[in-house]
Amino acid sequence: MLEVKSNYNLKALNTFGLDCIANYFVEINQLEQLTELKNLPIYNLEKLILGGGSNILFTKNFEGLVIKNSLRGISLVQEDDQAVIVEANAGENWHEFVMWCIEKNYCGLENLSLIPGCVGASPMQNIGAYGVEIKDVFYELTAWNLISGEFKKFSLDECKFGYRESVFKRELKNQFLITSVKFKLTKNASTNTTYGAINSELEKMGISSPSIKDVSDAVTAIRTSKLPNPKEIGNAGSFFKNPEIENERYNVLKIKFPNIVAYPLDNGNVKLAAGWLIEHCGLKGFEHEGAAVHSKQALVLINKNNSTGKSIFNLSTYVMQKVFDTFGVNLEREVNII
Ligand code: FAD
Ligand code: EPU
Repeated sequence: MLEVKSNYNLKALNTFGLDCIANYFVEINQLEQLTELKNLPIYNLEKLILGGGSNILFTKNFEGLVIKNSLRGISLVQEDDQAVIVEANAGENWHEFVMWCIEKNYCGLENLSLIPGCVGASPMQNIGAYGVEIKDVFYELTAWNLISGEFKKFSLDECKFGYRESVFKRELKNQFLITSVKFKLTKNASTNTTYGAINSELEKMGISSPSIKDVSDAVTAIRTSKLPNPKEIGNAGSFFKNPEIENERYNVLKIKFPNIVAYPLDNGNVKLAAGWLIEHCGLKGFEHEGAAVHSKQALVLINKNNSTGKSIFNLSTYVMQKVFDTFGVNLEREVNII
């Protein structure tokens, strides 16, 4: 039976820890509840799907219906000598799912350890870290059409994954509720340690032939050292994307800023480290009405002292302006703004 709550405060359900009153709130634990929900009059209101609330900034109350996806369950769908396909329901905690795979020695997700949030949101922005994005291990997902009430499967191609992008953030925005995701993982313990910081962390740990658990531990150690724990300091991870610019523009910037941090891309463009740009505007630790630029990682904005969504948003606008004035580079927000 579906329990509808009204005037529900989402403070505990977003990692910025911001007050946000939703007109209506429901939590879905079983697929059948979706049909039940569709028959309620409140279903016609504007809808927001919520997972772990770790990539959302609430700047105002939500006038509509919040659907918290709490569909749980993990299963092995297919297995051969080399690989497995595992399926996780959307409400599974991402990191717990990664740990489940590591325990079974299914390889591929270990670099994505400790990312907050739920499995269902992972394809939304093609989560990525330490040299891996979910598109690298994605097999298929199932989503519920919020308008027709039908289930549809999406293949890798149909998801149109890009850097922190997918079809669900663009053409199909607000049209589907992802119910489960399948990943293709390998059984041979080949690890991906190409991302510089992982190798130096493994060296520190005295490990030369790392297992997937070692890689996960290294990633966890790096992340813990620089990213604020949302349980202690409100944040949503990187607030902005790392901007992509043309190589010619990069060469001009490099003359003026020889230490600028950048990564070459396959398409000939260059990705700039937005954290470096923000830091070199002198904004590390900068505060505005309780919101601040994190002092260990300038790409992360934090709710330092009882701030509001509006103040955090205004701080983000200020940061974007400063970066533009200094480098002529436009930053794009990565966090979903409500
Ligand atoms: P939410 O914040 O609840 O939702 C995010 C978006 O997805 C919203 O638009 C929501 O409507 C939509 N959505 C959620 N669930 C569903 C669903 N089932 N169906 C349809 N739409 C849905 N991200 C990275 O990519 N890499 C990182 O390294 C990383 N590090 C982070 C570190 C910290 C400390 C924090 C706080 C965040 C970090 N993030 C990172 C961002 C965040 O963890 C991811 O974007 C995560 O996938 C969000 O999951 P969530 O369940 O919390 O989504
Ligand atoms: N840097 C600075 N100053 C800073 C922050 C970063 O100079 O304050 C420079 C450093 O030179 C560093 C480089 O930027 O070497 C890159 O920093 P880092 O390795 O911390 O990664 P990032 O580019 O800041 C991205 C993702 C993270 C992901 C890490 C690791 C984006 C928007 N962010 O951050 O994802 O965990 O790489 O792969 O792509 C997230 O999306 O929420 C997130 C945390």
